[in-house]
Amino acid sequence: MSLREVVVWPHEALTTPAEPVEVFDEDLATLIDDMAETMYASNGVGLAANQIAVLKRVTVIDCGDEEGESALLELVNPAIIERHGKFTWQEGCLSFPELFEKIERAERVKVEFFDRHGARQEVEAEGLLAVALQHEIDHLDGIVFMERMGNLQKRLATRRFRKLLAAQDDS
Ligand code: NI
Repeated sequence: MSLREVVVWPHEALTTPAEPVEVFDEDLATLIDDMAETMYASNGVGLAANQIAVLKRVTVIDCGDEEGESALLELVNPAIIERHGKFTWQEGCLSFPELFEKIERAERVKVEFFDRHGARQEVEAEGLLAVALQHEIDHLDGIVFMERMGNLQKRLATRRFRKLLAAQDDS
């Protein structure tokens, strides 16, 4: 396993839709292992392949279980098949370090996906896990959370993030 570099917005991989996975082989397993390691090393709860500049429909998520134990989900070719309700959550993104924004999402979702061996699976989620699933599947479609904001919020958040980036360049 190895750590991969997480790209930061406006890297073009973040705004390019990823391609479906067709071959479930060792390379896919390695990609998934590397993504999980990179997510944990970055203290994230989710990572999409676009964020390491790999345009494949693969994402890893770990929002923990009810006891606070690790609960890693590996999703290949995920798709939302049901959504219910609406709620707002304060979201962050490893590709927008230090930017946290309130985003409206479906409150509950059902997602179908394939595991690393190509077996079809489903997961139903609410709360943080529902948010993470929607956020990561958006990444695979080339949609960053900025695109889920209203015009004013988007403008302010863009300005704030550009300032954060400029401050990092200066240090
Ligand atoms: Ni993200």
